[in-house]
Amino acid sequence: MDKLRIGIIGLGTVASGVYKTLQDINNIEIIKIAVKNINKPRSVSVPKDMLTDNAYEVVNNPDIDVVVELIGGVEPAWDYISAAIKNGKHIVTANKELLAKKGEELFNLTEKHNRVCLYEAAIAGGIPIIMPIKTILAGNRIHKIQAILNGTTNYILTKMDVDGASYEDVLKEAQELGYAETNPTGDVEGFDAAYKITTLATIAFKKRVKIENVYREGITKIRKEDMAQANELGYKIKLIANATIDENGNADVRVHPMLISKDTTLAHINYVTNAVAMSGYPIGDIVLSGPGAGEFPTASSVVGDILAIQAEFGKTDYMLPMMRCHHEHKANPVNINDTYNKYYISITAPNAIGVIAKIGTICANKNISLASIMQKEVYENSTADIVVITEKCQERLIKEVVEELDNCTVNSLIRVAE
Ligand code: HSE
Repeated sequence: MDKLRIGIIGLGTVASGVYKTLQDINNIEIIKIAVKNINKPRSVSVPKDMLTDNAYEVVNNPDIDVVVELIGGVEPAWDYISAAIKNGKHIVTANKELLAKKGEELFNLTEKHNRVCLYEAAIAGGIPIIMPIKTILAGNRIHKIQAILNGTTNYILTKMDVDGASYEDVLKEAQELGYAETNPTGDVEGFDAAYKITTLATIAFKKRVKIENVYREGITKIRKEDMAQANELGYKIKLIANATIDENGNADVRVHPMLISKDTTLAHINYVTNAVAMSGYPIGDIVLSGPGAGEFPTASSVVGDILAIQAEFGKTDYMLPMMRCHHEHKANPVNINDTYNKYYISITAPNAIGVIAKIGTICANKNISLASIMQKEVYENSTADIVVITEKCQERLIKEVVEELDNCTVNSLIRVAE
């Protein structure tokens, strides 16, 4: 049996897991691995002559059939990948940012050169999601995705919930333990999850979603008091990647914190675990959950993609037709201000007669129905904490309500999942 010959760009955590996993798989041969620094100490022992510090020795190597890109980021990854495709290589990548920002160009290029690019590891790490959507779920019209796609933020929110701790304290601890990066912006501000939902919604809805139309809010403003109040009301707070599409192709795709009912599976996805809930016809509702990151779970997805190519390599002129991306149709973007949501509002107000009535009136004047309104803490300085849950209403109107609550402090405004 001919071996599939691969070159790898990068030898960080995921690539080390791929290297180790491939030691037990005999129909794949690693030809070259490009790294920044050949002499850097590593957890994996790789023959020195397999390493190069010039990625073009992988990309331009005539003995390599598949380039596995595991460095992340747009540049120089895009330079390497586009050169590799033009040189006739198939691609396996875990690069969610590149897919979100360059997906259309990338898949047009692969099609032009009759090559494939597989990316199971880019979305939800070890959870099989791309291949299932493109193959066994292909007959479905998926109209809704609700997902936890970022382990770092899910870890922080879970710890805040379990320990009753503040965001700042948990972030610091997570950084000390290596669960959060020194610069955590990409995770805590929702960029990572936004990249992932851009691609996930594109393939699930079979219409291209653009990253610039994905609304994004992170978790940095979530307070421990919100966690406690959400719990009392029967919810957990999670960073949710949410995508829906209607019959006219209007796609509402966003990442933001949400109160999510304890009756749902997603509310119980804790620490670094990821999960993707999808609804469609004819399947109904499904949830896939598992490790969204880490050396071996992510390697599982990368190696699965390599083996999918290996299984067809040399046997067909048009490989893996179901895994290819076309998406000549674009989704219509939906502005967040035009969306309808339920809201949790935490307000600190003067503890005076008529304050609750005033909040009710401001909402009533905008035709916003309240599901509940509760006075919580009363403080010595004659202020009181009030928690409101609204029924579904338009985002633009709830922002007007917040503006009009001028004698109160609005501590938090968080959307509530349905
Ligand atoms: N930074 C991501 C997370 C893992 O925290 O889930 C890689 O996609």
